[in-house]
Amino acid sequence: MLDLIVRGGTVVTAFETFQADIGVTDEKISHIAEAGSLDSLIGEHTRVIDAGGKYVMPGLIEPHMHVKAPFSNTIDMLDFYTASKCAAFGGVTSFMDFSTTTKDTPVLKAVEERLDEMAEGALDYSVHAKFITAGDDPDDLRNTVKTLVEKGVPTFKMFTIYPGVMIQDADILRIMEVAKEEGALCGFHAESNDIAQFMTQKLLSEGKTDWEYFNQAKPNACEAEAVNRILTFAGLLDAPVYFYHLSAKESVNLVREAKKRGVRVQAETCGHYLTLTDAKNKGVDGINYLMSPPLRSEEDRKAMWEGIKDGTLSLVTSDNEVFSRTVKEKDLEVNGDTGEKIPYFTTPVNGIPGLEERFGLLMIGVNNGDISLNKLVEVGSTNPAKVFGCYPQKGCLAVGSDADLIVVDPEKNVPLVRENLHYPEELDYNLYEGFVSRGWPVCTVRRGEILVENGEFKGKRNSGRLLRRRLKR
Ligand code: URP
Ligand code: ZN
Ligand code: ZN
Repeated sequence: MLDLIVRGGTVVTAFETFQADIGVTDEKISHIAEAGSLDSLIGEHTRVIDAGGKYVMPGLIEPHMHVKAPFSNTIDMLDFYTASKCAAFGGVTSFMDFSTTTKDTPVLKAVEERLDEMAEGALDYSVHAKFITAGDDPDDLRNTVKTLVEKGVPTFKMFTIYPGVMIQDADILRIMEVAKEEGALCGFHAESNDIAQFMTQKLLSEGKTDWEYFNQAKPNACEAEAVNRILTFAGLLDAPVYFYHLSAKESVNLVREAKKRGVRVQAETCGHYLTLTDAKNKGVDGINYLMSPPLRSEEDRKAMWEGIKDGTLSLVTSDNEVFSRTVKEKDLEVNGDTGEKIPYFTTPVNGIPGLEERFGLLMIGVNNGDISLNKLVEVGSTNPAKVFGCYPQKGCLAVGSDADLIVVDPEKNVPLVRENLHYPEELDYNLYEGFVSRGWPVCTVRRGEILVENGEFKGKRNSGRLLRRRLKR
């Protein structure tokens, strides 16, 4: 007898759409069959989800988020359990975070620490290993990379910006070469530190300090220069590379052209670059919309959709890191006369929520006719699983895969504002006022266990399972 059956739904995968019932046994999808044909396997203990008139899709995978991540002497407001809740309401069933490598916490230790923290969540989980140096000893580097690959952590992140965490180009080349040889993937936060520093000083010397200048301090060229550099390294070494959070049209063009030349590159953009522009940074609420890379022009926003449509960009992620406005403002000076905080674009903590909104932001693309539902599944679930090495265990609806799925009500309209989302009360602003998702996950299932049903979160603490990932070579 089945443990669970999802009955009467329209199954939507990255590749096709069809009517079927899905049967689950021992955490896995055991049957995908013609509607009604599994009824003989419904027993006394079988949970039945009626998906009539609804879509059934693979659970989303969030491969780019930051939780419990120290930043500017503060920390974001979620933990991995509260993050699981927000994520599950937004249709996410697995997530990946980043280790916090520092001078005193080497890569492997930082990975262990982060995985221990992630175990408190209710979603299946993994981590990307952050490298801030290649170290002095080539054998140590190779052993570290080998150990990570053996542990199922074959994906890395390096920053080309931010003194303290940014890595030198020579070290990037060394890590890229070893990663290629050992079956790992180097990913990059690509922004030019030199351009950002130069532009920041220039703007400050001109007395330009308001929020809107944050974008000018990191213009398109700031991202594109670093993307171009990494693509050059990847071409030189014939090594695979990944870009986190691309935002500039020039970067998308660079990736598109590099792919044509045979460079092994994959890249993501984020929900906010698909839906918001730098107009949001003007005015008193501009601070709420500060993230790196910054929001850009309407032309850039459209270029992100074009990149998704033609496959140049193969993932859409959230880059979620949730700070209250109060915390974002914590280091600002106060005007002695008015008592108001004085805008100063270099000071605030960067980062925005998005874990729960991601499905809705993609759905807005579906509602507008930019992408199909199948494409939503592809960029939100199937490609994250493929690129980060957990496909077909995750990222698809197939017999033998983990029973991670969502039931989406196409009639449910959800304005993407705080009262409909599940972030902690301390989150004191809305980013997506006026944005409504037509279609929303009403049931989220992870390995056959119902995490969200009837508006209620049922996920248990410490119920997520570590994903051991392996990349195709
Ligand atoms: O501003 C952002 N994106 N904060 C998160 C950290 C990062 O660089 O991805
Ligand atoms: Zn980043
Ligand atoms: Zn990030």
